[in-house]
Amino acid sequence: MSSSKRNLFVTTALPYANGAFHIGHIMEYIQADIWVRHERMCGNTVHFVGADDAHGAPIMIAAQKKGITPQQFVAEIAAGRKQYLDGFHIKFDHWHCTDSPENTELSQDIYRKLKAADLIYTKDIEQFYDTSKGMFLADRFIKGTCPKCGADDQYGDSCEVCGSVYSPTDLINPKSSLSGTTPVMKTSTHYFFKLSDPRATQFLREWTEGVGADGKPRVQADVLSKDLEWLGKDGGLADWDISRDAPYFGIEIPDAPGKYFYVWLDAPVGYLASFKAYCEKLGKNFEEELTRPDTEQIHFIGKDIIYFHTLFWPAMLHFAGKPYRVPDHVNVHGFVTVNGTKMSKSRGTGISPLQYLELGMNAEWLRYYLAAKMSSRVEDVDFTKDDFQARVNSDLIGKYVNIASRSAGFIFKRFGGCVSDAAMRDPMLETLRAAKDEIVGLYEDREYARAMRRIMELADMVNEFVDREKPWELAKAEGREADLQRVASVALEAFRLLTLYLKPVLPATAERVEKFLNCGELTWESSTVALSSANPISKYEHLMGRVDREKQLDVLVPEKPVEEAKPVLPGGEAIADVCTIDDFTKIDLRIAKIVTCSEVEGSDKLLRLELDVGEGRLRQVFSGIKAFYEPKDLVGKLTVMIANLAPRKMRFGISEGMVLAASDASDKAGGVYLIEPFPGAQPGMRLH
Ligand code: 2FM
Ligand code: ZN
Repeated sequence: MSSSKRNLFVTTALPYANGAFHIGHIMEYIQADIWVRHERMCGNTVHFVGADDAHGAPIMIAAQKKGITPQQFVAEIAAGRKQYLDGFHIKFDHWHCTDSPENTELSQDIYRKLKAADLIYTKDIEQFYDTSKGMFLADRFIKGTCPKCGADDQYGDSCEVCGSVYSPTDLINPKSSLSGTTPVMKTSTHYFFKLSDPRATQFLREWTEGVGADGKPRVQADVLSKDLEWLGKDGGLADWDISRDAPYFGIEIPDAPGKYFYVWLDAPVGYLASFKAYCEKLGKNFEEELTRPDTEQIHFIGKDIIYFHTLFWPAMLHFAGKPYRVPDHVNVHGFVTVNGTKMSKSRGTGISPLQYLELGMNAEWLRYYLAAKMSSRVEDVDFTKDDFQARVNSDLIGKYVNIASRSAGFIFKRFGGCVSDAAMRDPMLETLRAAKDEIVGLYEDREYARAMRRIMELADMVNEFVDREKPWELAKAEGREADLQRVASVALEAFRLLTLYLKPVLPATAERVEKFLNCGELTWESSTVALSSANPISKYEHLMGRVDREKQLDVLVPEKPVEEAKPVLPGGEAIADVCTIDDFTKIDLRIAKIVTCSEVEGSDKLLRLELDVGEGRLRQVFSGIKAFYEPKDLVGKLTVMIANLAPRKMRFGISEGMVLAASDASDKAGGVYLIEPFPGAQPGMRLH
C-alpha cells in the first residue's frame, strides 16, 4: 500500500425501516464508527453513509395496517434514528433512504446495464395468490397445517413445532395470513439475474479470492470458505429472482409494467444512493468521487447477509460496469448475545439501546465494552453484566481515568497548569510512544480487542509508575517540588497518549481531554508531540463515572426469575398428552428400506425417497431432509415410516407416507436425524 492518503466510502447494512434500532445495529455501527474515526485520525478522507431500507411487502403491509402510506410509515421510523446515533456517538456523514429519487435512478440504471450485458431474462413461475387482496404471497404470508407433524398455524416455509422445512405448496389447508382466504396458484412472469452464467461464477471466484486496494483479502477467511462452498455447488449459483408483482412497495422495473425490483436488489444500491445524495449536498460530483482511482468501497455487515453482499452485490456492480466499482472489502461481524443467548424479544433477552441511554448509562462504556470483545473474525460478542461492570469499572475508571485524577490536580494547583518539559523525555513515555504503530495496525485490521488489551497493559505500566513514585507523598515532602512536577507531568503525558490510543472508541472523552490538556486535536501524528509548559492545562473535571449495578445494569438486564426445575428436553418441547394403545396402533409404523434417494428439481428442501416396505412395490416419499443428508449416504439404509398415512399430493408428485426423523422441537439447527433400526430388522416389519 502506498503512503498516500486514502479516499474511503464506508457503509453499514441498511436497517429495515419497520422498527427501531436494536443492539445488533448499534454494535455494527460502533464497529464501523471506530474504524472510520481511526481512518480520519490517519488523515484519510472518509465518506461514512447509511440509509433506511424502506421497500418490500412487510413494510407495505405494516403501513396498510396503520392506515398510512408506506412513505409516512418509513418517515416515522426514520425520525427516531437520530437519538440513537447521537446517543452512541455514531457519526454518519449522511443518512438517506432507499425510497428516494437517487435510488430509483441508480437501481434502474444498474438493471438496464445488466440487461444490456445479457444477464436478465424472464420466466413464468407459479405462486400462491390471494384473490381477495389481489396479490402474490411471499412464504411468510401463508399459513397452514404442517405436512409433517400436523401442527396448525405454521408458516409457508417451515414448521416451528417439528422444525421441518417445506414449500408453501406442501402445507395442508394453506391460508393467506393477510385475508384468511385460501390462496390459489397463479402464474406470473418474473425477472431473473442470470447468476448461473459462467461469467458470473468466474468473476465471483476472482472477486472473493482477491484483495482490496490496501492489498488485504477482500473478505475474511470464514467468508471466503462460505463463498467458495456456494460457488462450488453443482451448477454454480442459482439465478436470482429479482422481480415482484404489484402491489409492492418498491422501484418499478423499466419497461415492465406492474413489476417491481425485489427489495434486496435496490437495498444495497441504497449505499450508492446515500453517497450520491451526500456528494450533492457537498457540491461534489458523485460519479467523479466514485470512480476516483483512490476511492475504496467498504461495507460492514452482519453474518446473516453474507450471500447478498459477497455474491449478488459484487456481481451486480461488476456487470453493470462504469461508473460502478466492486467493493474492496465486505467486513462481516457476528451477533450480539446476552449471557450466551441469542436475542429474542419474546423471551425478553437482549438489551434495549434506548433504555440503556435512558438509564443514564454512558455510551462510551458500551463502545469500550464492545471494542474490548471485537475481533476481525466472524464471531458473536457476548454481553454479561459481570463482565461489563468489570471492564468499565476496572479498565476504564480504575486504570485509565485514574491516571488523570492522580496527576492533573498537582500540575494545575501547584504548577499553574505547567508540565515539566524535561519530563517529556522520560523512558516510560518512549515505551508508550513506541506502542503507537502496533495499536494503529490493530485498529486498521479491526482487531479492537487486542488493541484494548495492549492499551490496558500500557495503563497498568503507568499506574505502577505512579504507585512507585507516590506523588501524594512528594506533595507533602519538603523540597520535592521538582520531583512532584516531573512525576505528575510524566503521568499526565502518559494519560494524553492513552487518550490518543482510545480516541476512536471514546470520542467524547477524548474531546474533553483535548480541551482540559490544552493539547489540540489528537491525531495519530500527535504521538510525536508532547504536552508543553507553553500550553498550561485547565482544571481537571471528573471524566467518567462508574457503572451502578442496581440502578443501571440490573434494570437493563433483569435477573431471570428462578423457574421451577423442569426436565430439559431438546428444544424445550414438553412430552405430549397421554394417548391410549388404541391411538398408537392406528399408526402403522413399518421398517422401510431406502432403495433410491435423489434431489428434487425446484426444491431446496426436499429429497425424494423410494421405499421398500415389503409390499412388492416401491413407495415414493418426499422428505424435508435435504439440508441434512446426501442422497448417496441414504441409499440401502433401513429406516422407519408411517405406512398408513393418507397419500398427499405435493407440487412434485404424490407422497405415500412419511419417514420418521428426530429433531429439536423448534430449532432444526440442532440437526435432523433419521431413525435406523438395530441390525436384523427386515423391510415391512411392523413396530409395536
Ligand atoms: O437484513 C437487513 O436488515 C437488510 N435491511 C439489510 C440491507 S443491507 C443493504 F443491502 F442495504
Ligand atoms: Zn411440523
